[in-house]
Parts: sequence; structure tokens; C-alpha cells
Amino acid sequence: MFDEEEYGGQELIRAEKTDYDAEENVLRPKTMADYVGQEKVKDNLSVYITAARSRGDALDHVLLYGPPGLGKTTLAHIIAAEMGVNIKLTSGPAIERGGDLAAILTNLNEGDVLFIDEIHRLSRSVEEILYSAMEDYVLDIIAGKGPSARNMRFPLKKFTLIGATTKAGMLASPLRDRFGIINRLEMYTAAELTQIVTRSAAALSIGIEPDAAAEIARRSRGTPRIANRLLKRVRDFSIVKGNDEVTRSDARFALERLEVDELGLDETDRKYLFALIDKFGGGPAGLETLAATVNEDANTIEDVYEPYLLQLGFIARTPRGRICLRDGYAHMGVSPGAKARRQMSIFETDD
Ligand SMILES: Nc1ncnc2c1ncn2[C@@H]1O[C@H](COP(=O)(O)OP(=O)(O)OP(=O)(O)O)[C@@H](O)[C@H]1O
Ligand SMILES: [Mg+2]
Repeated sequence: MFDEEEYGGQELIRAEKTDYDAEENVLRPKTMADYVGQEKVKDNLSVYITAARSRGDALDHVLLYGPPGLGKTTLAHIIAAEMGVNIKLTSGPAIERGGDLAAILTNLNEGDVLFIDEIHRLSRSVEEILYSAMEDYVLDIIAGKGPSARNMRFPLKKFTLIGATTKAGMLASPLRDRFGIINRLEMYTAAELTQIVTRSAAALSIGIEPDAAAEIARRSRGTPRIANRLLKRVRDFSIVKGNDEVTRSDARFALERLEVDELGLDETDRKYLFALIDKFGGGPAGLETLAATVNEDANTIEDVYEPYLLQLGFIARTPRGRICLRDGYAHMGVSPGAKARRQMSIFETDD
């Protein structure tokens, strides 16, 4: 279905989830073997899963963190599948009251996975219930108020909590400390993304030249969700052109039309870099100020845009604010002044 919003370059490169997509399920890898990249995370998890299974025990609680669209939810499903247990999905903002969480927890079976997305957004009171549930597999509930309040304790089945967050720094330390397994997902290499695009094309019966897959991969900001989305849009352009296989030139044409540049940067990235260079002399500039200048929400800048700019080494986060680095200047075709050169030299290494 044609969706105008989805067609804008900006919406395309945002790795946040959009509405439910029927094709999504087809594209989701279902096994560890199909899950591309993240080798260290996969190797470690496979050991823990094998060990837990051979002990006949539930897997320890797992925290997955990293920028949106890198495969946290997908990995949670795979973990449950490899453990051979059910998975129940919810999210931090969806659990409003302690009672909601209590109801979810008491309905879990032995070994089941409870997946809490955006776990940094749990309310304080809900989070506190989670502490004893995670640690001792009991539900501690305070019934009544004031002097007559009583503490009641109910046993729970031994379950596995998988928490996902884009902001590990915002997790209260008592909560973070209760995860036995903590994994950070990294951005994917162009080679890994090429593999993902190729796999997705096959799943969607899209014919694609290897060069075209690589072109899409290079512009996907290290993010599988973006790679899949670009693939679908590029396919649309190919279909309209009457081609039944996506060629490299189709891909380049479509991506240009979508205003996604050679590195996957869009209008907002360029506005951000330009503001940092032109308005703030290369920085340091505060997040809020920068966000206001490019007319974006500070959270979106921090979670969606900056991770990739940091990964590219275009910017650095310093205690005094964001600064633009040499490669950022080069991409924008500007040469840095003396002050900018001085401050960037502190943050750049010579490798
Ligand atoms: N390692 C991978 N191999 C192949 N495809 C992947 C991989 N990781 C993610 N994907 C694809 O990217 C899409 C997005 O992944 P997923 O929804 O798991 O990301 P997420 O980290 O949970 O994002 P969010 O933070 O927005 O919840 C999936 O539908 C899947 O098709
Ligand atoms: Mg997710």
C-alpha cells in the first residue's frame, strides 16, 4: 500500500518502529543461525542457553541494549525459541500499575520468557515489584494502606526476563544489577547488511543484483531495519521502471530520490552537521540547542541520529557538548578553522 509518510527520506532512515508491517514477520530471522552478525553476543548466548538447558534450568535474565532497529526484539524471540519456551511481550510504558505486572508474572510458566521492551520506561513502583520477582521469584505486594498495610508474598515460577532498551544509561542500577547477562548490540558492517538485504530480498521474492544489495547495505546506517525498509522502497522504484531485477543503477536512482546520501545520511543529519559547523564553529554545542536548531526532538537526535554519526566518527560527545570531527567537516565539504582543529585533535586518534 502506498503510504506517503513512509516515502519521505527522513522516515526511511529512522530506525524506530513504524506501524505493524505484514512483511516484518517474513523478514525476521527465526534461529540463531539465520541471525546475521553480532557474533560475540550470539556465541555467548548460545553457551548460556546450552548450559541452562542441560541443567534443566531457566536462562538467567538478559538485558539487550543498543540503538533502535539492531535486532533486540528479534533476538529475544530467538532466545525463547532456542530455550523451547513461550515468550510473552510487553513494554515499559504499557505496564502502568503494579497490578498489571503482577498479573503478567503470575501467568508465566516455568522457564517462560517475559520480554519487556523499553524497560527504561518502567515506573518506579512497577520496577520495585520486579526486583524481588527477578531475584527471588516472588511477588511482594503491599495490601492496604497506613498502619494496617500488610506485606504479602506469593511465589512465582522461575522465569527469564529479557529487557530491551536503547538507553542503558537510564536504567536504575538496582535493576541493571539483577541481569545476569548483559549484551550490547553493535551496528552491522556493510558486509553483514549485504547478507541481510540478500536474505530479505529472497524472502520477499525480489530479484536483486549483488551490487545493488551492497549499495543498499552501505546506506543503511549499520541498521537492519533501515536496510529492509530501503530494500522495499528501492523495489518499488524498480517495479515502476518495469524491471524485474533490482540493478545497481536502480538502487542508486531510488536512493537519490529518497534523499539518502552515499553514507545513508538524510536531510536532518546534514542540517545537524551544518549547524554544528556553521552556527557553533564546530562546537561544543549542547544537545538541546542543536536539536532546536535542526527542529527535532532532542531524544530523537540522541537515539536515532547521533549513534550513526558517532559510529562514522563525524562527531564526538564531550562533557561540554557535541563537537564536529575532521571526517564530519570533510563530508560537508568545509575545512575546519583553527579552534575547531585544536579541539578535535583531543578526541581523534591516529588509527
Ligand atoms: N541480525 C539480524 N539479521 C537479520 N535481520 C535482522 C537482524 N536484526 C534485525 N533484523 C531485521 O531488522 C528488523 C528490526 O529488528 P528488531 O525489531 O529486532 O530491532 P530492535 O532492536 O528490537 O528495535 P527497537 O529498538 O526499535 O525495538 C527485524 O524485523 C529483522 O527483520
Ligand atoms: Mg524492538
